[in-house]
Amino acid sequence: MQLGIFMPTTSGSLIISKGSPPQSAPTWELNRKVAQMADDGGMDFLLAQVKWRGYGGETGHWDSALEAFTLMSAVGAVTKDIKVIASVAVRTMPPAVLAKMAATAYDICGDRFIVNVVAGWNKFEYAQMGLWSDDDFFLNRYEYADEYLTILKRLWTEDRVDFDGKYFKLEDCVSDPKPSQLPEIVCAGQSPGALDFVSRQADYSFIGRMNDTAEQLGEVAGKISALAAEHDRSVKSLTLLTVITAPTDEEAMAKKQGFLDNRDEDAINEWLRVSGFDKNRQDYQELPPEVTTFMSVPYIVGSYQTIADHLDALAANGVAGVCLSFPDFESDTPEFIENVMPLIKSRQ
Ligand SMILES: Cc1cc2nc3c(=O)[nH]c(=O)nc-3n(C[C@H](O)[C@H](O)[C@H](O)COP(=O)(O)O)c2cc1C
Repeated sequence: MQLGIFMPTTSGSLIISKGSPPQSAPTWELNRKVAQMADDGGMDFLLAQVKWRGYGGETGHWDSALEAFTLMSAVGAVTKDIKVIASVAVRTMPPAVLAKMAATAYDICGDRFIVNVVAGWNKFEYAQMGLWSDDDFFLNRYEYADEYLTILKRLWTEDRVDFDGKYFKLEDCVSDPKPSQLPEIVCAGQSPGALDFVSRQADYSFIGRMNDTAEQLGEVAGKISALAAEHDRSVKSLTLLTVITAPTDEEAMAKKQGFLDNRDEDAINEWLRVSGFDKNRQDYQELPPEVTTFMSVPYIVGSYQTIADHLDALAANGVAGVCLSFPDFESDTPEFIENVMPLIKSRQ
């Protein structure tokens, strides 16, 4: 079972709630500290997402967000062993530019450097920059990503590239230096188009929706492995998890309740709006507060032992790794390393 950190690159983590925590400012200082704690503590990877527009409200949730490639290049330079995953939103960067950025990051980090391919789902993030051509982009986003990855891999391995595709045209395109090996690829898409893309192009896939059981995750992991096997490839399944922990289950539940009681309704409503939800819709009225406050991301609440047991159950069902998000990265990262990690049987 690999363990990683969902880096604190945005204002507010995966909990839309007022109070401090969970609103840590996304600074280099915080990210460096968390990265080095995870590296020294024996964790396996760090993932920085990329976000171009937040959700406002009293908390200014995700309004401030560091850029992932610049951040993770620096993180790679100040860490030793841990893998470093930087996200790229494929709409924002031509593949020939990204090929060179990744080769530069690879030169800094070596084979610890990994690329997370984001097709993009939030129209408003990209429309504000004139990068959402029309809504057909959303429908075809993984076809677009597929051409993008095909070009990236060719630029990383071939001297000169000609390409005449549906979305990209390259003429005698040269990209040097090249990474000494192909950087590994992560993708977190969950839609059918995404799974097809993952099976052909990615090395790791993020799976899991809120309230999925460990067995359900295992089924999805098995499906992705089978899809990848059709292309003679193997893809490992990872999952994202918000962890709310404390010495006892009761204390952890009290923390969770505090976040629910202080939810930032305005930021939640904006997040729902851009996700295509109308707050007046019947299905919104019926959404449990956990779904909106925790951004529909799987979460676990409990004592150190409860968290360790949950992680072991995921491992037993074929989940190869978990990317952890915390309410307060600065204090929760060392608390997890000291108290939860020694209890995880699947790491021993
Ligand atoms: C670990 C993880 C990292 C992600 N990183 C980003 C990101 O950096 N930027 C982003 O816009 N979406 C990000 N997403 C969302 C996914 O890229 C994807 O759009 C989402 O899971 C929905 O899947 P779909 O595009 O197949 O519908 C991330 C999701 C997960 C689980």
